[in-house]
Amino acid sequence: MTSTTPFLIIGGNGKTGRRITQQLDARGIGYRLASRSSEQRFDWYDESTWSPTVAGIDTAYLAPPVGPTGLAQAGKFIQQAASEGLRRVVLLSGRGVGSPGRDFAVYESSVELENAVRASSADWTIVRPAWFAQNFSEDFLLDYVLGGELRVAAGDGGEAWIDTNDIGDVMTAALLDPKHVGETYSLSGPRTLTMAEVAAELSTVTGRPISYVDLTPEQHVAELVEFGLPQEDAEAVRDLFAVIRNHRSEYVSEGVEQVLGRAPRDFADWARETAQTGVWSA
Ligand SMILES: NC(=O)c1ccc[n+]([C@@H]2O[C@H](COP(=O)([O-])OP(=O)(O)OC[C@H]3O[C@@H](n4cnc5c(N)ncnc54)[C@H](OP(=O)(O)O)[C@@H]3O)[C@@H](O)[C@H]2O)c1
Repeated sequence: MTSTTPFLIIGGNGKTGRRITQQLDARGIGYRLASRSSEQRFDWYDESTWSPTVAGIDTAYLAPPVGPTGLAQAGKFIQQAASEGLRRVVLLSGRGVGSPGRDFAVYESSVELENAVRASSADWTIVRPAWFAQNFSEDFLLDYVLGGELRVAAGDGGEAWIDTNDIGDVMTAALLDPKHVGETYSLSGPRTLTMAEVAAELSTVTGRPISYVDLTPEQHVAELVEFGLPQEDAEAVRDLFAVIRNHRSEYVSEGVEQVLGRAPRDFADWARETAQTGVWSA
């Protein structure tokens, strides 16, 4: 049994989706959550779950899966959903998607997904955020923080890390206000930080030493494989870090200011508050 609401949040229990549902809850706006574990079961790889998920929905937020196969599924999903009556989609993409050059080849499948969204009959807003600060507290970089060593191949490249709460605010605005239809926004935090600078900030707020160990791309792949990642996935992670390593992320983007009329949150403020949750105390 599904709820009756115009809004669908796919991946609503994830890092970005959760921030959107908090915003909708605060406004008393209903929505349908969809993922493998939600009441409305939705699986990118089980197409029998797609039609029931979009039935009666007007506007959807999509946090797509990672990897070429998943992104292709997301493209197929959006085409089907639009043909079944979905009128508007807000897509989470990534900063750098659509940029020309060898370093950005890793985003090719994301470009195809953006193209599928634009080619669908649904109205769309595409949001391309920088790397999430929450990667260090809720995702694949957390264990490195807990272990005291950020062991990745980012060289001395910077990234304009963004607080996913800012992404949630932008996505909520895009969902609620049709003036964002047809817009593609790039979002980032207010400054770039190298991995060494991130380590220094995290050391300050946790009160214990966290260092950056600058691996070569080959060492990075070897360590990830040793941790159990398939070779292909490890190489994909290496290629994502190459974007930072080759200084292609060393710029700030104005999307948060454009959409919300305020500055994005600084990494240091996010880190200080996150340390108080105890997530890095374990
Ligand atoms: N991390 C970054 O720095 C960064 C930067 C830019 C863009 N992005 C993009 O952000 C997206 C991820 O968004 P997010 O971080 O908000 O999500 P997330 O936290 O990674 O996960 C969202 C939810 O997706 C659900 N899910 C996983 N596999 C699924 C499947 N097969 N079918 C249906 N649902 C599934 C999971 O819930 P269940 O377990 O309940 O299914 C999960 O909680 C990716 O496309 C990534 O490329 C990330």
